[in-house]
Amino acid sequence: EAFEGTGVWRYADALPLAEGVSIKEGNTPLYTVPEIEADVGVADVRVKHEGMNPTGAFKDRGMTVGVKVADRLGVDRLACASTGNTSAALACYGARADTEVLVLLPAGKVAAGKVAQASLHGARILEVEGNFDACLDIVADLADRGEAYLLNSINPFRLEGQKTIGLEILEQSLAETGEWPDRIVLPVGNAGNTAALYKCFRELVEAGAMEEEEMPALTGVQAEGAAPMVEAVREGNDEVRRWEDVETIATAIRIGNPVNAPKALPGVKATGGTAVAVSDEEITDAQRALARDGVGVEPASAASVAGLRKLRAEGEIEADEQVVCLTTGHLLKDPDAAAAAGGDMTSVPADTEGVLDVL
Ligand code: F0G
Repeated sequence: EAFEGTGVWRYADALPLAEGVSIKEGNTPLYTVPEIEADVGVADVRVKHEGMNPTGAFKDRGMTVGVKVADRLGVDRLACASTGNTSAALACYGARADTEVLVLLPAGKVAAGKVAQASLHGARILEVEGNFDACLDIVADLADRGEAYLLNSINPFRLEGQKTIGLEILEQSLAETGEWPDRIVLPVGNAGNTAALYKCFRELVEAGAMEEEEMPALTGVQAEGAAPMVEAVREGNDEVRRWEDVETIATAIRIGNPVNAPKALPGVKATGGTAVAVSDEEITDAQRALARDGVGVEPASAASVAGLRKLRAEGEIEADEQVVCLTTGHLLKDPDAAAAAGGDMTSVPADTEGVLDVL
């Protein structure tokens, strides 16, 4: 297969392999969001919509690398714990590589679209009576015992692929505005993207392609009910305290133990970034605002815009900044949340007069 021109593999020189198990991931759009820009009061706001990847989330960028590595190692079972999107992507890329996939999901807490994907792509799905963090503990244990190859974001090859989000943001921003963004605002669960973006910037600095002061400020957003990373950033701690009880409408980031925090926290600090927690109501408001600008996302993704709005209101983000918000998953991932946030339907009889009556 030819990999040239696909989003992620265009950047093969920055990756540990020359080619992957590919379904043409990456190359996602960077949207302008005029209503949000005016509403929030920041000079330039753009949205990098990772929901436009093949399985509807950024995970594909990591899986195209990680599943290829597993293939080369000759492993016979791939596994992950997941709040949904990782399981959908692993099921898809595992199917493409013709390798068995096992996924552990927190029972009752995974959005419908994601379960449907994992199921149709043929993963073996286990529903665990516990949260995501408990699922990850178990899968890590299985990997230690040689039962499976782990493809959660603690696997460094995943993050290598996810670095290309940063490369695309820089390239697209430069092409469209003539500048690199001052800040990237992103939802945080396991802090994999935060760690991957920081690694991307560090490598550009090491290669002499970027000045250290030019690194966009990495700004993480969590839901109030699952905000251990925000707690660590705000209190200036070097370590993150694990939260045992987590809850949020943004089930993708319903995570109490961000496993990549040791790689991500230094990035937030070094780039002059910050972290903020937002309520479920603020997340749903931001999901509606994005939808009004034509961008359909799942709740976790809307956390980025909710965080931007909050930090701007608090004066932590300046009006003249150029900001990119990362939206990590597509609206259709969580159709129930979308329908609940949207408007109601009206029943009408099957004739034009009946329809005109309600207009
Ligand atoms: N947004 C979405 C839509 C996600 O699915 C995830 C993570 C995140 C944000 C958080 O990203 O871990 O890099 O900070 N989802 C994982 C999963 C946990 O299992 O699908 P992070």
